[in-house]
Amino acid sequence: VPQRALDRDCTTLSRHVLEQLQSFSPEAQDLSTLMNRIALAGKLTARHLSKAGLMDGVLGFAGGENIQGEDVKKMDLYANDVFISVFKQSGLVCRLASEEMEKPYYIPENCPIGRYTLVYDPIDGSSNIDANLNVGSIFAIRKQEGDDESGEALDLLQSGHKQLAAGYILYGPSTVLVYSIGTGVHSFTLDPSLGEFILWQENIQVPEHGSVYSVNEGNFWQWDDSIRDYIRYVHRHEGYTGRYSGALVGDFHRILLQGGVFLYPGTVKKPEGKLRLLYESAPLAFLMEQAGGQASTGLKKIMDVVPEKLHQRTPLVIGSPEDVALVESFIQEGV
Ligand code: AHG
Ligand code: MN
Ligand code: MN
Ligand code: MN
Repeated sequence: VPQRALDRDCTTLSRHVLEQLQSFSPEAQDLSTLMNRIALAGKLTARHLSKAGLMDGVLGFAGGENIQGEDVKKMDLYANDVFISVFKQSGLVCRLASEEMEKPYYIPENCPIGRYTLVYDPIDGSSNIDANLNVGSIFAIRKQEGDDESGEALDLLQSGHKQLAAGYILYGPSTVLVYSIGTGVHSFTLDPSLGEFILWQENIQVPEHGSVYSVNEGNFWQWDDSIRDYIRYVHRHEGYTGRYSGALVGDFHRILLQGGVFLYPGTVKKPEGKLRLLYESAPLAFLMEQAGGQASTGLKKIMDVVPEKLHQRTPLVIGSPEDVALVESFIQEGV
């Protein structure tokens, strides 16, 4: 086997983290271990999804509503528990906050305080599960600050600049993991025969401009005029094409690789938009800025937004610099 191919097959996620940090410091080792555990969560979730039509527990609703007021899918709960399980006995993660849990989950056993917190969206795009369409998991790693006596995780109510790492797993025709620890954006593809995520692309840079605009036009009647004016603009000008998968992770991944813009503006029903800051918009904003793109609420950078509540929603405009600027010009003109 040519040396390069063998080396590449051995460039697993945990090795890549240490290569990126050029260090074996305790923090580097922590991040390498954390990413390795994230990879395990991704493999377990991908495996479960692949059995959707073959066994119970994957498709359909679990019954009940989550804090978001959404009907919870069985897969939401399964993946939520997968992330908790893979971090038990890690000694690294003391607390997990997710879309599916009103309050964070505290890992009871030996977890030295002041270590890491995982914030995550266990299954993003749940409405796609029963139609066998792409879904994802989104995550970010933050340091726990203080000992969170109140159990309210108030130290999580800080801006996206507090993220040490962020990424997502896209469960598509292949299972792809994209991450950044602040040294660029890198992607890995799961090789099921090895059970490892193998390096695919390094230092991904989003194109300055792309033809894709990704938005749910079914909300047209609920938007501000400024957004409607933007949509009328792309309808009337050559060179734009609409793509919307119903899963943020899939739409984001397309734009990261091919350019363009994704937007989920505020609506009449959800003036602050639908997407949640802590475990959807902020992790993706971290990635997009690392890839040379932009992410804003339309008025300010997502990375600078300080949440007041754990499940706070924000409007999101994210993608190629030129295309985000165009959307912002309509929004800011309207202000
Ligand atoms: P989740 O499945 O984690 O609740 O997220 C769904 C989000 C996001 O993935 C997607 O972009 C958006 O909801 C789609 O919302 P609409 O159906 O309102 O377009
Ligand atoms: Mn949901
Ligand atoms: Mn989501
Ligand atoms: Mn979700």
